[in-house]
Amino acid sequence: MLYRATTNLVSTIIFSAFFIFTGMAQKPQWTIGMSQCNLGEPWRVQMNADVKKEADKHPELRVIFKDAQNDNLRQRAHVEEFIKAGVNLLIISPKEAAPLTPPVKAAFEKGIPVIVLDRRVLGNDYTCFIGADNKKIGKAAGKWIVSRLGGKGNVVELKGLMTSTPGQDRHSGFIEAIKGSNVKVIFEADMKWLEPNARREMESALARFKEIDLVYAHNDPGAHGAYLAAKAAGREKAITFVGIDGLPQEGQMYVRQGILSASFEYPTGGREAIQTALKILRGEKVSKEMTLPSRVFTKENIDKGGEWLKE
Ligand code: FRU
Repeated sequence: MLYRATTNLVSTIIFSAFFIFTGMAQKPQWTIGMSQCNLGEPWRVQMNADVKKEADKHPELRVIFKDAQNDNLRQRAHVEEFIKAGVNLLIISPKEAAPLTPPVKAAFEKGIPVIVLDRRVLGNDYTCFIGADNKKIGKAAGKWIVSRLGGKGNVVELKGLMTSTPGQDRHSGFIEAIKGSNVKVIFEADMKWLEPNARREMESALARFKEIDLVYAHNDPGAHGAYLAAKAAGREKAITFVGIDGLPQEGQMYVRQGILSASFEYPTGGREAIQTALKILRGEKVSKEMTLPSRVFTKENIDKGGEWLKE
């Protein structure tokens, strides 16, 4: 009896000590502030999920997420709050380059390491930029379109927010690639990355032009919005739709369904952001620029996992 009581007591003490010890070991050592410009599109929800999934593997990290709801001023305030709270590191996916540059610079100058994800800020006052090469994606899309149209055709370009860097680069890369061909942009509009805007702009394009061969949208929600407008007008079969992002549950699914003919992958960089954050927090050196690879998904290659873009 006494023996059993003693062993019970000893095991309780051992167990408690173990839990206290592991509890201490599990306590987050570093806090990361993650400022997301909006969570209105599946791609950004995926970015946060990728950040969380990777961070969850590291009990020494705690990530605080803030969603700016597509509002520059709110995002500025979020960065200022993170600075005041004394986070150990900041990850930001900024809405627009110019308005988010000063708060990022302020954090960086205070000694808070900053990882800028996907859209850029102006200048060099941050620790590391992570994203795919949007100019290269725009160029690859342009080349694919010229070849698909046999060097000639009427294109509608639905641009992403042109005050954000991916919109600028996806446009300039595309224009470079179609130069010298007879592929013409007959209608262009800034749909600001948003599907309802793309749908509305496409309605105008359809009303103005009898012959539209292809829509190049800077993201998959934009391409899908254009498809819906064309479908409502009974013209979707005559038009080819191309988008960017290539999420399994969005662009890749549209390609499988035959809605999009091509979707170019734009990786979220969420996993890489956490891996880089850990290196920085541990005092390791990281390079200023991390360029992520991208693939194109078409009906022909989707079952094989797409095709990587070449240099
Ligand atoms: C989501 C999104 C993506 C696009 C990225 C560019 O907000 O519009 O569709 O690829 O932002 O920054």
